[in-house]
Amino acid sequence: MPETTPAPLNVFEYRDAARQHLPTMVYDYYAGGARDELTLGDNRRAYDRLSIRYRVMRDVSNRSMATTLQGSALDLPLLVAPTAFHGMACEEGERATARAAGRMGTIMILSTLSTTAVEDVVAAGRGPVWFQLYVYTDRDATRDLVRRAEAASCEALVLTVDAQVWGVRERDERNGFSLPDGLVMKNLEASGKPSFPEVEGSGLAAYVNQNFDTSLTWDDLDWLAGLTNVPMFVKGIVRGDDAVRAAEHGAAGVIVSNHGGRQLDTSPATIEVLPDVADAVNDRAVDVLVDGGIRRGTDVLKALALGADAVAVGRPVLWGLAVDGERGAVDVLSMLRDELDTALALAGTASIHDLSPDLVARRNAE
Ligand code: GLV
Repeated sequence: MPETTPAPLNVFEYRDAARQHLPTMVYDYYAGGARDELTLGDNRRAYDRLSIRYRVMRDVSNRSMATTLQGSALDLPLLVAPTAFHGMACEEGERATARAAGRMGTIMILSTLSTTAVEDVVAAGRGPVWFQLYVYTDRDATRDLVRRAEAASCEALVLTVDAQVWGVRERDERNGFSLPDGLVMKNLEASGKPSFPEVEGSGLAAYVNQNFDTSLTWDDLDWLAGLTNVPMFVKGIVRGDDAVRAAEHGAAGVIVSNHGGRQLDTSPATIEVLPDVADAVNDRAVDVLVDGGIRRGTDVLKALALGADAVAVGRPVLWGLAVDGERGAVDVLSMLRDELDTALALAGTASIHDLSPDLVARRNAE
């Protein structure tokens, strides 16, 4: 960053700074959502509708954010959510993200649609990497992704289940979203599917609609589990009954997610459905994560209090990468960590494991 630019103070300022660094087509792809972007906005606004009923006079001099997820000890309950094409944000692409996550003591979830091969991302990072999976109609290509992720030592697979067809992101249609020259989907090179077809609207939408499997059912989770010993998370859950289904089919965890508001517009804000999901699988050995709209440490606190074991952030990390590569991503994650630390202290809670739902209340309508 040039020295004269005031350093961003929070995730929102990082977003504004990133916008200056990125071509409109790229910024819109990262920032945008489906159709009227109602869910995109609601993911965020729903956090603002919640207040924290803090407690006082409880020794908070020793605070802890540490936790364990699938056997990995984490310094903070905040993962890097899977997002695609980091090579558009910074030269080092997903290698920078993996290093940033490792430096922060957390997990990076790598997208199938990365511009760096899974093997290279794991080698670059110093921490655990999980692999987000899309199921292709070409089951050999899907099998290849699973085997490569396992061989590269990815510690979990995250199956995205909310993308049977691609949500229509009107910004991408308008901009004719395509991958900038020199970038391809590295994990799909071996299967001969590394690039978008040439179309007028969104090249990504055309690619997905040509390649992803619209016939997915819960039985496919059993098929995937038969291919690998790696624990499986199901991402894209907004209902308790679906979370129970995932657990019944052997999932180690679920991610309450509406794909950052990028798939079904008017689907509910994730923080609003989190309690239902957490309650539904309360008596099962299933980790519950949530993403979508988390931009402040207080948001993290609210999600953990309402039943999440950890949260994940996608766009904030992209803003950090766009502004200053690995350093920017570390800075964004550090801000969220520090904000969470302050929020914990002021809520009268020394450990994230002591957060409980009674700390969160719905604001009265204005
Ligand atoms: C990729 O997963 C996207 O939502 O664009």
